[in-house]
Amino acid sequence: MTMNRQWVLVRRPVGQVRLEDFARIDAEIPVPDLAAGEILIRNRILGFDPAQRGWMDKGTGYMAPMALGEPVRGSAAAEVIASQNPAYQVGRFVRGLFGWQDYAVVNKVGEAAPILIPEDVAPEEALGVLGAASLTAWVGIQTVGGVKSGDCVLVSGAAGAVGSMVAQIARLNGARVIGIAGGAEKCRWLVEDYGADAAIDYRSEDVSARLAELAPDGVDLFFDNVGGDILEAAIGRMAFHGRIVLCGSISGYNDAEPAPGPRNLSRMISYRISMQGFILLDHLDQVPQASAELRDWLAAGTLRYRTDIQHGFEAIPATFLRLFSGANKGKQLLRLCA
Ligand SMILES: NC(=O)c1ccc[n+]([C@@H]2O[C@H](COP(=O)([O-])OP(=O)(O)OC[C@H]3O[C@@H](n4cnc5c(N)ncnc54)[C@H](OP(=O)(O)O)[C@@H]3O)[C@@H](O)[C@H]2O)c1
Repeated sequence: MTMNRQWVLVRRPVGQVRLEDFARIDAEIPVPDLAAGEILIRNRILGFDPAQRGWMDKGTGYMAPMALGEPVRGSAAAEVIASQNPAYQVGRFVRGLFGWQDYAVVNKVGEAAPILIPEDVAPEEALGVLGAASLTAWVGIQTVGGVKSGDCVLVSGAAGAVGSMVAQIARLNGARVIGIAGGAEKCRWLVEDYGADAAIDYRSEDVSARLAELAPDGVDLFFDNVGGDILEAAIGRMAFHGRIVLCGSISGYNDAEPAPGPRNLSRMISYRISMQGFILLDHLDQVPQASAELRDWLAAGTLRYRTDIQHGFEAIPATFLRLFSGANKGKQLLRLCA
């Protein structure tokens, strides 16, 4: 009998997420007798997002926590292999939160329905350059951040899936862009591939000192993916009426206790700085426009991107951990083998 391989969450991580937080089990393949409206999908490519770490905690985030003993919640591009739903034909590819497993029966409707991947878009592109990270960048830097020509934009996590798109979209809007990333290689990509005007290697350089050199008149718009010390350094260099967009705070996702907040928040008063958090899910009305524009830029060769593709079912948990060591070189994906 064909089995449905699954990685399930066996315990909620305490602090640093570990391989032992997950267990591999073989379940029976979901019932082939589908009810009306249901489809049976087979995952082909998994996508990895830092937010999955937060979903493993007990109810502190914007989504229900993952259930213990269930396949880990995560995005995937999957093939429809049986269907009782005329909107999803067998052989088409869909994307959705199908989890760390081979097969799933999907019966969701409305906003939670699987999203059909256009036939001229590769599954890797649907999860990568045209996926949620790029949509987050598009909404976050434009709609939330209100980037405008002449802005001095700073972005952290700048060589990653969201950050590399933020840097490029800010440049397309006429901004000057400074990126912060870990290591010489990622900093080189920022300047040579993603069009940043300058890059700061937070692992080997003093971020505050470099910001003082690179942004002597201050930062107008800071797009933060990282939080912690980098957020504090950015607050210290914001211009009058500067805007901070909080997209993520990955430096703290594996903290057992929250780290103390930035020590220089009072500077936000004297410099009239504003700070706004956002979640892509609140901006789904903009997804059609954002998707169309990203596709146009991609077709025109305007956008550069990297996907880091790991392979094989056994490698799933270790692939997730790559996000937190910075081992991922671009959008982290994994191709499942038969
Ligand atoms: N608000 C939303 O709706 C939304 C949606 C999607 C993603 N996000 C957030 O956006 C951020 C980026 O996500 P992504 O998918 O684009 O991931 P990513 O940047 O492709 O990968 C994560 C990167 O974070 C960096 N990192 C890890 N630990 C760090 C630390 N302690 N200090 C500084 N940098 C660290 C590493 O880059 P280096 O090698 O440069 O250190 C790593 O490669 C995350 O915070 C995520 O939660 C938010």
